[in-house]
Amino acid sequence: MPTAAKTQNQPVTIVIFGASGDLTRRKLIPSLYHNFQKKRLPPETKIVGFARRNLDNAAFRKHLRDGVMTFSKTFNQTDWDTFAPRLTYFKGDLDTAEDYRHLREYLRATENGPTNRLYYLATAPRFYAPAARHLGAAGMADQTRGWRNLIVEKPFGRDLASAQKLNQALHQVFHESQLYRIDHYLGKETAQNILFLRFANTIFEPVWNRRYVDHVQITVAENVDVGHRGGYYDTAGVLRDMFQNHLLQLLSLIAMEPPASLDADAVRNEKVKLLQAIRPIPLNDTVRAQYNGYRAAPDVAEDSQTPTYAALKLFIDNWRWKGVPFYLRSGKALAAKTSEIAIHFQSPPDIMFNLSQDKCFTPNTLSICIQPDEGIHLKFETKVPDSVRESRSVDMEFHYSDSFTDTVMPDAYERLLLDALKADASLFARSDGIRRAWELIDPIISGRETSADAPPLAQYAPGSWGPSEAGELLARMGHTWRLGCGGH
Ligand code: BG6
Repeated sequence: MPTAAKTQNQPVTIVIFGASGDLTRRKLIPSLYHNFQKKRLPPETKIVGFARRNLDNAAFRKHLRDGVMTFSKTFNQTDWDTFAPRLTYFKGDLDTAEDYRHLREYLRATENGPTNRLYYLATAPRFYAPAARHLGAAGMADQTRGWRNLIVEKPFGRDLASAQKLNQALHQVFHESQLYRIDHYLGKETAQNILFLRFANTIFEPVWNRRYVDHVQITVAENVDVGHRGGYYDTAGVLRDMFQNHLLQLLSLIAMEPPASLDADAVRNEKVKLLQAIRPIPLNDTVRAQYNGYRAAPDVAEDSQTPTYAALKLFIDNWRWKGVPFYLRSGKALAAKTSEIAIHFQSPPDIMFNLSQDKCFTPNTLSICIQPDEGIHLKFETKVPDSVRESRSVDMEFHYSDSFTDTVMPDAYERLLLDALKADASLFARSDGIRRAWELIDPIISGRETSADAPPLAQYAPGSWGPSEAGELLARMGHTWRLGCGGH
């Protein structure tokens, strides 16, 4: 098996399975097109779409051009005309072994000599294992003529057992180092910046621990409801859809130890160590809820018990975080779309200022706004001018839009695809991390389904900040949820 390094500068063919679907048109091709415009694609990059629909190259390119025009802010006809010839279409069925053999011949005929290949499974999850098997049977995972890497979309299993089964099926054909499990939150600029904030500065890390941090809140709130995705969502729910992947990834970045290098395994070792240190989460430290009206959405069961909102409290049993509560929440149909990580620091040990009656200091908070209005806020206390005993908390703010005025924030897929093209897996999930994430989340899902004394599913009004039970979860330790990015 040649190592990726030896074959790094070879041309690449990207094969997208499920190429006529929404993900390809909405995310993958616009992201590849942006990388092309920025001259970041390896030379001679070809993109082959594989799907069942009857399309020729011209119709496929037109379909994708419409997508880029809709979803890209930088579409222009001249760039598109240079980019489009790289796109070709191959009609095939994901379940038919013969179609993979034909694809192999087609690729060999179009590639000039040794070429790396990136296979992208933009398909329904039930095709992940069969597609890998067919690729293996057709000899398409063999790395003698360049690396053969496979990108797998979420959901990666629907519980621990199915994730393990899927890993085993993929490992029958692909080595772990060839597998790129995508979590688009890791491609977001603001998520990548967490490690820069922590480890490219000296002022934060000394206070990033149990001696100074009181608690941490991670919120990923969406104002959209389930929309037309009821069929998928009703079988998943928020714990599978958001917690097992995105929220635990954000938590890992915020809480992990510094890696020895930015090498993919060095980073992922630290993330897995962090997940392993999380104490099993008791059911009474979790809240699940459904917004009123969810059951009337298309393809949702009339008596659905699927949570569209969840909140939980967890503890990390290591030297850095022992005893510090981490609160995580996410839901649909909430008051605003906002993703934020807020580090709440402890109050000063002694208050020598003789504050006006009933006043106390607001503890310092560092808030990382993942989206929208990406930025960082530091809240601190200041003396109100021309007063003696008045204090007010003020905000020191950094907004990407102010400091990087010429930069359009790239879509997460842009970075992730580029890294995959360079065979850099540091922003992709590894099998042990996936397993550990399921070990933590699975008991919350299955315990709720089977345990007789589990609290019933709570309700919340669409457009609110979730059920009152989520507030009570924090109130037990004297905490309250923040409102949106920067606390506004
Ligand atoms: C996806 C979930 O992974 O993330 C969706 O399946 C969710 O349900 C989406 O809406 C949120 O992503 P973003 O980037 O809009 O925060």
